[in-house]
Amino acid sequence: MDPELKRSLIELGMVRDVRVENSRVRFTLALTTLACPLKEQIAADAKRAVLALDGVKEVEVELAEMSVEDKRRLGYGETQPGSAEHLNDIRHVIAVMSGKGGVGKSLVSGLLAVSLRQAGHRVGILDADITGPSIPKMFFFRPVRPDNSPVAILPPETRTGVKVMSINLLLESEDQAVIWRGPLIGRAIQQFWGDVWWGTLDYLIVDLPPGTSDASLTVMQSLPLSGIVLVSSPQDLAGMVVRKAAQMARSIGVPILGLVENMSYFVCPDTGKRHDIFGPSYADALAARLGVPFLGRLPLDPEITRLCDMGAIEDYATAAFAPIAQRLAEVAPPARRFG
Ligand SMILES: Nc1ncnc2c1ncn2[C@@H]1O[C@H](COP(=O)(O)OP(=O)(O)OP(=O)(O)O)[C@@H](O)[C@H]1O
Ligand SMILES: [Mg+2]
Repeated sequence: MDPELKRSLIELGMVRDVRVENSRVRFTLALTTLACPLKEQIAADAKRAVLALDGVKEVEVELAEMSVEDKRRLGYGETQPGSAEHLNDIRHVIAVMSGKGGVGKSLVSGLLAVSLRQAGHRVGILDADITGPSIPKMFFFRPVRPDNSPVAILPPETRTGVKVMSINLLLESEDQAVIWRGPLIGRAIQQFWGDVWWGTLDYLIVDLPPGTSDASLTVMQSLPLSGIVLVSSPQDLAGMVVRKAAQMARSIGVPILGLVENMSYFVCPDTGKRHDIFGPSYADALAARLGVPFLGRLPLDPEITRLCDMGAIEDYATAAFAPIAQRLAEVAPPARRFG
């Protein structure tokens, strides 16, 4: 059995060149990619299965990679809508939202994933920002592509093992613009849920685009959710639009798990003095007014910008953020549908 796809290697067209000489059996396993992290396990399992057959004393397995034609002939690359949903077991789904653009939703999504992963959880990020995707750039230095299997799209994994799905992983170039109207955007988000083989995840983080538009509505109405996290910055304007986002979640009945304030302050590296660049923080008051837990503050830190631009967010010392992720993990209920 393929441990990921849960289908027989023979059915997947992977077994080739079977040669039997007396009690000795040799065959080739053609994998979709030789970069497959499970290849040793697959080969060992196959070897064991054949050794268990009557009369077999010796087994030799050779690993190879399928040709592009092979993959096409076997139907790799053509996935069925909703085909992966039954393969997935996703316990908590947390959407990161803010009415306002540029307050750090994607950063909070990324750091949440990194912290939860560091705490030993199985984590994925679904980038629901179809027109302004920014998750892959934070995690990957070089462009990566998802693999296609006959049943689903396989999300690439980051260095520390966070599974990522984003429209930017499917485009020819990362600069290519996606010019789609609402219904298409909604369909893409649903595909990222139903056609992607996430497997078993403790937490799936959904990075929403700014505002209370189609994408947010699709996520709230068609994905099971544990709840949303609101991100704001210490500006009255941000507070006002965050209240709109909260209002939207309330009207659909999705729980608000808490509020995170980003860019709260800056600690000057020369003097060690703390500056409130965007004015004093009033996040506690905003959280109280919304009746939601205040989860914590993130400083404005040039190191964040630098690491995010290098695809190295996983190198960020998450000490400041880990308690926020921990608190959130504690309050997140099992995901359920609200729409
Ligand atoms: N606390 C911080 N310190 C330093 N840089 C930050 C911080 N938060 C965010 N940034 C930087 O600011 C930019 C915007 O952040 P981010 O993309 O997370 O915002 P967003 O709310 O997701 O934006 P959008 O509304 O476009 O989706 C990014 O380049 C990010 O690296
Ligand atoms: Mg964003």
